[in-house]
Amino acid sequence: MSIAFLNGEFLPLSEARISPLDRGFLFGDGIYEVVPSYQGKLVGMVPHIERMQSGLASIGIKFDWSMDKWQTVIDQLLEQNGKGNLGVYIHVSRGADTKRFHAYPDNVEPTVFLFCYDIPSSPTADASKTKGLKVNTQQDLRWQRCNIKSTSLLGNVMHFQQGYANGYHESLLFNENNELTEASSCNAYIVKDGVVITPPLDNQILPGVTRKILLDILRKDGSITVEERVVNMHEVKNADEVWITSSSKDIAAVIEVDGQPVADGKIGPVWQKAMQLFSEQKFNY
Ligand code: PDD
Repeated sequence: MSIAFLNGEFLPLSEARISPLDRGFLFGDGIYEVVPSYQGKLVGMVPHIERMQSGLASIGIKFDWSMDKWQTVIDQLLEQNGKGNLGVYIHVSRGADTKRFHAYPDNVEPTVFLFCYDIPSSPTADASKTKGLKVNTQQDLRWQRCNIKSTSLLGNVMHFQQGYANGYHESLLFNENNELTEASSCNAYIVKDGVVITPPLDNQILPGVTRKILLDILRKDGSITVEERVVNMHEVKNADEVWITSSSKDIAAVIEVDGQPVADGKIGPVWQKAMQLFSEQKFNY
């Protein structure tokens, strides 16, 4: 039985209840995180919580748990759920009001909800044992605040669904200038002539924690050049490698875009090297 945490209490997930007047339910008015944990070892807990705190501040939800408090609750949740490969889902919504009214209410207690779900085991840095992903491309039709990890995910869900229903693992998104933004639930990268290139942080993409950790590891190692710059879709179609990253996928290699193979359609050597460095060092974050 999966154990959840709701408003101060650990309880079976099937028994967790919130009010239908919760603004997370009515308006998607909340912030969430997914922190990966492999056999009880978390990756990037501090940057995940920091991103959550900054998201909450940007939408005016006052919620002041310290890093230690978060660590304690997450550790207890993992303890109660066995230590497999788990995504720790953390959700803070503005809370339940007494009416449905768009403006932020005063004096409402935020709703805090955590639970765990299975994620794939940490992939090995071995292309021969790794499945490459197939993606399609779609014009990014989400909102203009994609840097906020909002629980209002319908835009992302619709993009993902459009790819999924057509047999794709993910959907790469491009803006009205035909520039790559990200994927529906991942950050995106191309590799060209040995250089890893990813779109810069702005309001069009989520500042991914996996992205942050990966870029830090690559820059410190120094053997692979990294660029944060605008990438157009022509470059995506002509890339040597395409990758997507997220907390539940690590670094996933894409081998097909819109039915066309990426380069020779095999997982590339830069992925192999980056994945090796990432696997060795990710638990330091
Ligand atoms: N998705 N971009 C979007 C739109 C995302 O939803 C995510 C994460 C990322 C990658 O961020 P990070 O590396 O911090 O996980 C980028 C999560 C895992 C989800 O919604 O399940």
